[in-house]
Amino acid sequence: MRLQIQPLNKRAEFVIPGSTEETLTYCVEHLMHAYREAILDHGAFYIALSGGSTPKAIFEKLTTSPIKEEIEWNKVHLFWGDERSVGPNDPESNYKMAMDAGLAKMGIPENQIHRMKAEGNIQAEAQAYETLLMEQLKSRPLDYLCLGMGEDGHTASLFPGTAALTETKRKVVANQVPQKNTWRMTFTFPYINSATKIVLYVLGDSKKDKVKEIFSLEQILYPVQQVGTEDNKALWILDTAATALLQQNTP
Ligand code: 6PG
Repeated sequence: MRLQIQPLNKRAEFVIPGSTEETLTYCVEHLMHAYREAILDHGAFYIALSGGSTPKAIFEKLTTSPIKEEIEWNKVHLFWGDERSVGPNDPESNYKMAMDAGLAKMGIPENQIHRMKAEGNIQAEAQAYETLLMEQLKSRPLDYLCLGMGEDGHTASLFPGTAALTETKRKVVANQVPQKNTWRMTFTFPYINSATKIVLYVLGDSKKDKVKEIFSLEQILYPVQQVGTEDNKALWILDTAATALLQQNTP
């Protein structure tokens, strides 16, 4: 599938592959392209996953024939970009979602699956996860970072108005999220923006108002707008439902 990638602003580009199904297919192709490049370059694929409904559908496709046979799963290293403060068996867990979507059954070595342990002492565990990232990746960047956008403009667990938005030194922090009355563990913007490929999946009708607003904003009002840099642009992958209010799609 060859589609035109267009500039969104100085830190991001976007592509609209079509319907939900066409867009999911594009997401999988995009990820597989990055996978092949990483394997050729350094023999491993370091990917960080997010929670949300779109990643779930993507993980299901990746772990189903014919795609699953294309992947050398023992070369895949899984990380997470954010996690809720729940245990690994909780229905709210991003780790559980990914595992249940099929990743548990692919034979990825256990020592290459790095869940965020956000259910205990979340501050200490965030520090430990940052150390783990440095040990595992050495000075290498993540090959691929999957993100979503919440309807309030959050991404990962970087919610509007929260302290983690302004973090400049840490890679991973515990972030208090008053709007959800909870704590979350999350990558910070400096670490998000250091990944080799940064992808934002934005699908579905519920996103269309925020997409319309963000696509016409000059200034930064929402966390998701801080994803990507001039030198390392993020790619927004959107479906027609999420972009229904953009001018180019109106007859
Ligand atoms: C989480 C996420 C979060 C998510 C967005 C979009 O743990 O909730 O990582 O940032 O990606 O809220 O979610 P959807 O894909 O379900 O819209």
